[in-house]
Amino acid sequence: MDKQPNSPEARDIQYHLHSYTNARRHQEIGPMILEKGDGIYVEDNNGKRYIEGLAGLWSVGVGFSEQRLVDAATKQMQKLPYYHNFGHKSHGPVIDLAEKLVTMAPVPMSKAFFTNSGSEANDTAIKMLWYRSNALGQPQRKKIISRKRGYHGVTIAAASLTGLPANQMSFDLPIANILHTSCPHYWREALPGETEEQFTDRMAADLEAMILAEGPETIAAFIGEPIMGAGGVVVPPDSYWGKIQAVLKKYDILLIADEVICGFGRTGNMFGSETFKMQPDIMVFSKQLSSSYLPISALVVNEKVFAPLADESNRIGTFGHGYTGGAHPVAAAVANENIKIIEENNLVANAREVGAHMQKRLRELADHPLVGEVRGKGLIAAVELVADKQTKEPLEKAGNLGLMANNALLNNGVICRNMLDTVAFCPPLIINEKQVDEMVGAFAKALDTVAAEVKK
Ligand SMILES: Cc1ncc(COP(=O)(O)O)c(C=O)c1O
Repeated sequence: MDKQPNSPEARDIQYHLHSYTNARRHQEIGPMILEKGDGIYVEDNNGKRYIEGLAGLWSVGVGFSEQRLVDAATKQMQKLPYYHNFGHKSHGPVIDLAEKLVTMAPVPMSKAFFTNSGSEANDTAIKMLWYRSNALGQPQRKKIISRKRGYHGVTIAAASLTGLPANQMSFDLPIANILHTSCPHYWREALPGETEEQFTDRMAADLEAMILAEGPETIAAFIGEPIMGAGGVVVPPDSYWGKIQAVLKKYDILLIADEVICGFGRTGNMFGSETFKMQPDIMVFSKQLSSSYLPISALVVNEKVFAPLADESNRIGTFGHGYTGGAHPVAAAVANENIKIIEENNLVANAREVGAHMQKRLRELADHPLVGEVRGKGLIAAVELVADKQTKEPLEKAGNLGLMANNALLNNGVICRNMLDTVAFCPPLIINEKQVDEMVGAFAKALDTVAAEVKK
């Protein structure tokens, strides 16, 4: 790190509190500063080039240098740089985007609502459901069931949905009325001798037992990512979502699909809900909605959610919810163009085809002594590392191997992310097979480096 007093690194340490960072350690090691993007690559301020193996934060679908998005933003900035949708106001980009999202959803949907981040969108989903329950004369129906290791963001309600300790410890979370059921990670969570079928039966039985213990009339919705992302890329067994949805239907509980990572092609279909045959009442989008060139997120809701909400807003006089930057015309224009690019350039098919190649190449590492499990679908995958393949034990402490591997991978020119001992791969949707080979090759080398260090 450059320790000159006025270097960007020193000023970063002096003035900048980072997200998801050990603030004390940051004072010692300082930042990695990125300066440029080009396709699937980014470059740091020393001129070193990296494959962005996580597409930023699972989000830059079209890559880091898409001129069409720059042009869409510029054009809209010049025409109408800002407007909102409060009090019946609207504008072209947000009307186009609302129509597009509602009509492209894989199940019948009614309306789109706009927010700025995945967390805000999930908070909004909860508020909509509470409002809906009151509208229906069911004030007791307020609980939301989420899952252990699910990730839904960090605002107070979204962080409560999130089922990861670091998002709740010392934040006095979760809030009331949020429950967490079992995580469908077969490789980690299956009982000895349990088949996948028996495992998903047990997941559904756990959910039903929770619903009955709490009282079905108190449960508003179940929220889940089709594939869990930040909880370690957990791909549920094929039979999981069908059985979960059968339980929800039985007790008239709504389903929220958090498509913030899976949406717009990631799993090899336009939406994760298609990949897993989910029939959500609410879908939550962000990240690849605009390839994160600008912050924007959205919910689409069906008529079951919209109709009572509309009636309640009529009774009260307004739907008293919305954000200054929600429905931002520049972000909406970028999202519209981004979806066009995904469709015109067949990036969903690319995620399916190049994704299959990435899954195959990563699975070739399964015999490596440090690899416990390789999992994924489409262009999202993870390799979970273990010190002992039989017991699945970590090296001394969970997270040691993941961090070592991620650091070695960075040295080899690939930015990824380790969640404890799981290294995640989620490259831009535009990646090709040759670039996948480059990325997986760098990871294979990183694994050997770590294995040699562990031996020492
Ligand atoms: C599935 C999912 N939902 C919600 C969020 C929260 O989004 P944001 O960071 O934009 O608040 C994320 C972020 O990673 C996510 O992966």
